[in-house]
Amino acid sequence: MVQLAFIGAGRMAQTHASALRGLSGVRILGVYDPSQAAAQSFAAAYQVPKCYANAHELYADGEIDGVLVCHYTDLHHRTLLDLFAAGKTAVFCEKALVRRVEEGRELLREAHAAGARVMVGHHRRYQAGYAMLQRVAREGRLGTIRMAKVAYCHPGYAREWGDFFADYGRSGGVTLDMMSHLFDQLHWILGEAESACGRCLRLSRSMPLPVDYVSATLAYRNGAIAGIEGSWQRYGVGYDKIELYGDEGAAIYEGSDKLRLYRAGEQTELACPGKPPYLAQMEAFIDMVSSGAPPRVGLAEGLHSVEVALGVLEASETGETFRFKPNQNEAGFQLPVQPSNAIR
Ligand SMILES: NC(=O)c1ccc[n+]([C@@H]2O[C@H](COP(=O)([O-])OP(=O)(O)OC[C@H]3O[C@@H](n4cnc5c(N)ncnc54)[C@H](O)[C@@H]3O)[C@@H](O)[C@H]2O)c1
Repeated sequence: MVQLAFIGAGRMAQTHASALRGLSGVRILGVYDPSQAAAQSFAAAYQVPKCYANAHELYADGEIDGVLVCHYTDLHHRTLLDLFAAGKTAVFCEKALVRRVEEGRELLREAHAAGARVMVGHHRRYQAGYAMLQRVAREGRLGTIRMAKVAYCHPGYAREWGDFFADYGRSGGVTLDMMSHLFDQLHWILGEAESACGRCLRLSRSMPLPVDYVSATLAYRNGAIAGIEGSWQRYGVGYDKIELYGDEGAAIYEGSDKLRLYRAGEQTELACPGKPPYLAQMEAFIDMVSSGAPPRVGLAEGLHSVEVALGVLEASETGETFRFKPNQNEAGFQLPVQPSNAIR
């Protein structure tokens, strides 16, 4: 039996606990949330026997095999360091991994020293359609990839000032909080980013109600260019799609169970059957806890999507092109080289 504990009992904790309920040999043993109401309602909903009075009680619980960190981005760094120090070495952490790049670098060093494995919650890597898109690109079915167009726009944004998600200093706004999923997708498909320019609203307090928008251009080391659009908007319509264009074709994925593929004289729809991504992600997490299997999105990948988001934000602030350092960070940890870098 794999025994788990949750830090944070909000929306994402409930999403993951619901997925875990469908898996055998797994038990949620405990939860800590400073909101007692949240912890108790979570414990009642998922039959969790222990509600810890504080995080240190959780760190000291020797019956736990794995921990899911589901509180806010700006708290992840401290919590992960405390978990490593307490010998908790199998950890799931929600995205965005951290609020600042230096925090992510320290986590890489400390995880290595503690022998810890961390899975970062970029669940789109477990969505069959995105995996198909990555495979189509990697197998060279589009030829040399020249460009990507990404749009992820969320209408009906209803957060108020004071909410974590509307607090730019804590969440990093739409560019870090939401678009880090897409930066992770592009990293998976195109490899390492080389430079960024763009403009972001960054939840400016000059607006009567919180909204956010990013419009950016990323250049990748493999020569591809990506146009990025993301928004938290209070009106209008939403969309969520990635388009990839190569010398021999194009592929478009809009989140359904089909991928559209366009090649000379040919238009096909590829079926992408698969499990719900949050379920597949939790299966992979349990595999990591029980067998030590490496996560598909570990600390290095989680940090890369943060670096890209923060590079875009810095480019917006300075008005200059932001250039990313090559993938060797100061701790000497190499980001994995993506096979798609080698696409013809
Ligand atoms: N993967 C995804 O698709 C996805 C979607 C939304 C949010 N997120 C990320 O998940 C994280 C949480 O977002 P959410 O929507 O679940 O927020 P939420 O507000 O629903 O839940 C957060 C919970 O954390 C608790 N909390 C606050 N401080 C804490 C502390 N010190 N220790 C333990 N718990 C604490 C809060 O009381 C709350 O219950 C954020 O980092 C967010 O960016 C990921």
